[in-house]
Amino acid sequence: MKFGRNDSMKAITSLASLVLAASLATAALAQDTTTQTPPPAEAGAGAAAATSGAAPAAESAAPTQGGEAPVGMAESATTLPNGMDITPVTQENGRWYNAEGIPTYKIENGVVDFATFNGFRRYSAECHVCHGPDGEGSTYAPALKESVLRMDYYDFQEVVASGKQDVNSAANLVMPAFGTNKNVWCYIDDIYVYLLARGTDELPRGRPAERADKSEEYTAQEDSCMSM
Ligand code: HEC
Repeated sequence: MKFGRNDSMKAITSLASLVLAASLATAALAQDTTTQTPPPAEAGAGAAAATSGAAPAAESAAPTQGGEAPVGMAESATTLPNGMDITPVTQENGRWYNAEGIPTYKIENGVVDFATFNGFRRYSAECHVCHGPDGEGSTYAPALKESVLRMDYYDFQEVVASGKQDVNSAANLVMPAFGTNKNVWCYIDDIYVYLLARGTDELPRGRPAERADKSEEYTAQEDSCMSM
């Protein structure tokens, strides 16, 4: 795998499993303090529903995209506020990467690459409940489509793997640890690139209308991750 992720994952997952139990307990408490978008007590645990493909965000207004030119950044504006150039350069295992090997999206003539499309599904199944539909944020948790423009890829990964708790906040908000949840962790890059595409406005709200086919390479990588 890229970036020596396996090594760091071992360290992260053992920590994450400890943090997970604690954060789930706190998440249950946090439900009392928020009314708009209370997280389910089991958020981050197994979330078996993620594989079904039925995204809870389905009811959010899906814009009709067919034929329309995608609204987006100008050709030259491919550098994020955090300094990262998101131009897709290489493809590996059915996913696109920039010149530095950081995952990115590729949208051509309104057709979304498969990983970005899958990121929409995974986000909708696992993150939407707290972070709001389409990465837009909620009263409970920040707008991730903006977070990814500011955070770098590794910081994003670390927060998702280990979780985060704003101890100074009166609201007692909790970001669960997902490092041991394969339904999240095997698709973390997909969720990331989906949020990038949302943050740059390359991808409109709702379910992407047109997507590339799932490649054999993608399927093979997915199978090996899910069976680890
Ligand atoms: C149980 C509710 C909940 C779920 C589910 C959840 N989050 Fe969070 N997340 C939060 C809260 C609350 C924060 C803010 C924590 C803080 O600031 O201390 C947060 C913060 C984050 C941050 C840091 C954002 C920033 O701007 O600093 C990232 C990245 C993140 N979440 C990613 C995800 C992803 C990806 C998923 C789905 C796999 C997810 N979260 C699911 C509640 C949740």
